[in-house]
Amino acid sequence: MRFSGSFLAGVATITAAALSTGATLLPNATSLSERGTTSSTKRGLAWAADSRWAPTIAKGMINWYWHWEDGPLTVLNGQVAIEYVPCYWGPRKSSQWSQRKAEFSKNGLPAYILAQNEIDVSSQANQGASDAAATWAKSLAPYQAQGVKITSPQIVWNVKLLQETASILKSQYGLEWDVTAIHWYGGSDSKSLASFKSYVQKVRSAFPNKPIWVTELGVTTASGGTQDQVKTFHMNAIRWLNSLGYVDRVSWFGCFATPPDNYGSKLNRFFNSNGSLRGLAYWYMYTS
Ligand SMILES: *[C@@H]1O[C@H](CO)[C@@H](O)[C@H](O)[C@H]1NC(C)=O
Ligand SMILES: *[C@@H]1O[C@H](CO)[C@@H](O)[C@H](O)[C@H]1NC(C)=O
Repeated sequence: MRFSGSFLAGVATITAAALSTGATLLPNATSLSERGTTSSTKRGLAWAADSRWAPTIAKGMINWYWHWEDGPLTVLNGQVAIEYVPCYWGPRKSSQWSQRKAEFSKNGLPAYILAQNEIDVSSQANQGASDAAATWAKSLAPYQAQGVKITSPQIVWNVKLLQETASILKSQYGLEWDVTAIHWYGGSDSKSLASFKSYVQKVRSAFPNKPIWVTELGVTTASGGTQDQVKTFHMNAIRWLNSLGYVDRVSWFGCFATPPDNYGSKLNRFFNSNGSLRGLAYWYMYTS
């Protein structure tokens, strides 16, 4: 959720490589949305790995990726191209948003933009409902007016805050988002799975007419658990999301060898430190 160092270094490396090998660029984001989302095309990546590893993982059932503050992986070795969804992190990262806007000018508008990253967490976008609505109306509504689909501000627990935000957006600005976007972190036991399910269902009840994207989902470090327990949770949660017609996309928070911070467990990770895939990744890429 939270950093960008090696990601940017990786992008620089791969961009240089592309210039010398003539590898193809990612196509514009409309390609996937034109194909439509089905249970087998929901899965994506919250990118936090070395970009040189993209060709290893951007295949199978993986169809899209996002980064909470960074730009697209410029090249995936010409072997594979999956949709990139830009994110507007929030007002405190305006320079990153300027970079995204420069990319829009250069590459054309994306099909989707993810809104604020965790308005309900103080170290993240951290906004009350009026601020969140005002920010959304100012920074994102102009893209919605041009046909880009925009998600809700992303939350990680506070459904009530999101409801208040929706209500202000509607009453003061006459606006509504296209997709409700949420994160979730918790334990790996069956009680946690039940709690995850009830959270998703609560979000659906709050916004019954909007599809849901679960853009970060993972087990916390604090909850402990073994690798087997985390993998079991992962499989059960993803299978359950697959079964829901109203959940259009999911990105498990594990696209790294080292977690961006200590909040999410390292047991969520898709990569070994040498860039090879771990069992969780193979399951996510190839098993429905
Ligand atoms: C993306 O869109 C831009 C602007 O519409 C266009 O110039 C560019 O060629 C497109 N890129 C690809 C890879 O289709
Ligand atoms: C990469 O690391 C994994 C896990 O430590 C190991 O099993 C695998 O053999 C390594 N692969 C290579 C090519 O070194």
